[in-house]
Amino acid sequence: MKKSILITGCSSGIGYYTAHGLHARGYRVFATARRQESVEMLLAEGLESFRLDLNDSDSIRWAVEETLRRSGGELYALFNNGGYGQPGAVEDLSREALRAQFETNLFGWVELTNLILPAMRRQGYGRIIQNSSVLGFTAMPFRGAYNASKYAIEGWSDTLRLELRGSRIFVSLIEPGPIITQFRANAMKAFERYIDVERSVHREKYLAIHNRLNKPGPAVPFTLPPEAVLKKVIYALEADTPKARYYVTFPTHLFGFLKRILPVSVLDKILAKAGNDHQ
Ligand SMILES: NC(=O)c1ccc[n+]([C@@H]2O[C@H](COP(=O)([O-])OP(=O)(O)OC[C@H]3O[C@@H](n4cnc5c(N)ncnc54)[C@H](OP(=O)(O)O)[C@@H]3O)[C@@H](O)[C@H]2O)c1
Repeated sequence: MKKSILITGCSSGIGYYTAHGLHARGYRVFATARRQESVEMLLAEGLESFRLDLNDSDSIRWAVEETLRRSGGELYALFNNGGYGQPGAVEDLSREALRAQFETNLFGWVELTNLILPAMRRQGYGRIIQNSSVLGFTAMPFRGAYNASKYAIEGWSDTLRLELRGSRIFVSLIEPGPIITQFRANAMKAFERYIDVERSVHREKYLAIHNRLNKPGPAVPFTLPPEAVLKKVIYALEADTPKARYYVTFPTHLFGFLKRILPVSVLDKILAKAGNDHQ
């Protein structure tokens, strides 16, 4: 029997590429998306697809029932992927903007995972793969909402891994640095929606952020295509004992290393500069 995987956020970027890549590798992929037009696109491309909106508990519940109905109650893996980045300085983030960031990037993932886990426990195996980020363990200026949501994913995943010890259900974090996707275009929408540029002390910096988010092609050095993430997802799916963390891109390896060896004061200098150079 084919191994099955449920993926969120397949309309573009990493989710889209991973869904196609795993389908081609012989997996039964439930490639979900929050918009019906994205579902239609994925169906037309030969993938199995239906709606799953991480901001909507009914939609999550329905998608889990649909997955288990189609698969006869079995699911080998869940790839938590759908999400976005809310740009903006911490002091310009409203409660509403932060809440929206956490609804999608954390609460939706937790709710979905908790509904899938009983099936994995029943069958006695499973893989939960979390698309975190280098920003899940390294902070950068003007990325506070996103940083906080990805740090939260790291803490939640570390706890879950401990609680699932011995269950044959493995939790792995994928930690990509810059990957070329629709991420910046979607961050731009969140920026325009929630950040009041004119009233901010960071007005001028926001101009640079605006330019970076609108820049076509890679915005920073060492950007990789989504294929680099797919490779690590395959390790997490197929290794006998998958690792807790998989780094993707040079910046992730670099900051992972620097964080271990440098005092905070020195690392802060580097991160502040990197953040300002790559607004
Ligand atoms: N690109 C990077 O450099 C990078 C680096 C590290 C980690 N990541 C992580 O990779 C994941 C995928 O992002 P990406 O880079 O592939 O960007 P992307 O091309 O913008 O894809 C994001 C996906 O998430 C979906 N999504 C947003 N809100 C959702 C919701 N409420 N319910 C369900 N799906 C939702 C989007 O759907 P719509 O099209 O409907 O908005 C889209 O399919 C994210 O978790 C991101 O944090 C990205």
